[in-house]
Amino acid sequence: MTHLFTLTELSITEINQLLDEAERFSKGGYWKATEPVFVANLFFEPSTRTKCSFEMAERKLGFHVIPFDADMSSVQKGETLYDTVRTLESIGVNAVVIRHSEDAYFEALRHSIRIPIINAGDGCGHHPTQSLLDLLTIRQEFGAFAGLTVAIIGDIRHSRVARSNAEVLTRLGAKVLFSSPEEWKDDANPYGMYVDIDTAVAEADVVMLLRIQHERHAEKMGLTKEQYHERYGLTLKRARKMKANSIILHPAPVNRDVEIASSLVESERSRIFKQMENGVYVRMAVLKRAIEGRMANGNYFEKWQV
Ligand code: CP
Repeated sequence: MTHLFTLTELSITEINQLLDEAERFSKGGYWKATEPVFVANLFFEPSTRTKCSFEMAERKLGFHVIPFDADMSSVQKGETLYDTVRTLESIGVNAVVIRHSEDAYFEALRHSIRIPIINAGDGCGHHPTQSLLDLLTIRQEFGAFAGLTVAIIGDIRHSRVARSNAEVLTRLGAKVLFSSPEEWKDDANPYGMYVDIDTAVAEADVVMLLRIQHERHAEKMGLTKEQYHERYGLTLKRARKMKANSIILHPAPVNRDVEIASSLVESERSRIFKQMENGVYVRMAVLKRAIEGRMANGNYFEKWQV
């Protein structure tokens, strides 16, 4: 089954195949399924980029997108996630994309749902397609990952982007530096070394800022936005210390003048909008893999036999 729950479950070969496929789509590559494909995007948390770029990817591939609005669904009447997905499977949906606030929500579905499930973000857990689009953006810039230093800066503990990226970048041969306020360090993430922000910015080929995940915090942040920016953000002064040819990434949404100075968002070093563009191509690659895998498994279309 070609689910995509985390990148940890994919080999380096599979990750490179997805990046190569995404690159082909970015250059106008064309692929169409041999039969109609129906997909549903189940977003139980807010999203602009991930939801819209999945839908763009699905439409570019010629898929039929079945509308699903969590607030108007029977989840509001107490239906479980499992029963919701099982229902969509029963009516003929061929794949689902899910974002959910619960870490590893997919464990309840892994062994019982027969259609591919693509994780569009689970709580503080993983965000595999964000990570793939970050990898594609880095590879387009530097050609490879080995030998690069990537600094991931901000709310490390609550970030599914940090968790997905640190693991896969380490596996691909990059060195990961973390920088964060003390209370947002993640002792459970072994893939990065903590340094102060000035060291992180000065040593990195890729400076990746993270949004403060207020919605996952038990307590209110003890700093004002201005204080956070000055102590832990990419200020204009810090950006001047970046290495030649180094780039800025951010998964977005961006809080301008908090984790990054507003004028840096669209600066020459920034690849933030390139990341979003690449999001469509990696999602096309992931959806193609899901549907091809289902066809290869021989159960894509249950044909009526007489
Ligand atoms: N980067 C990202 O996941 O953005 P959205 O929350 O807008 O989808």
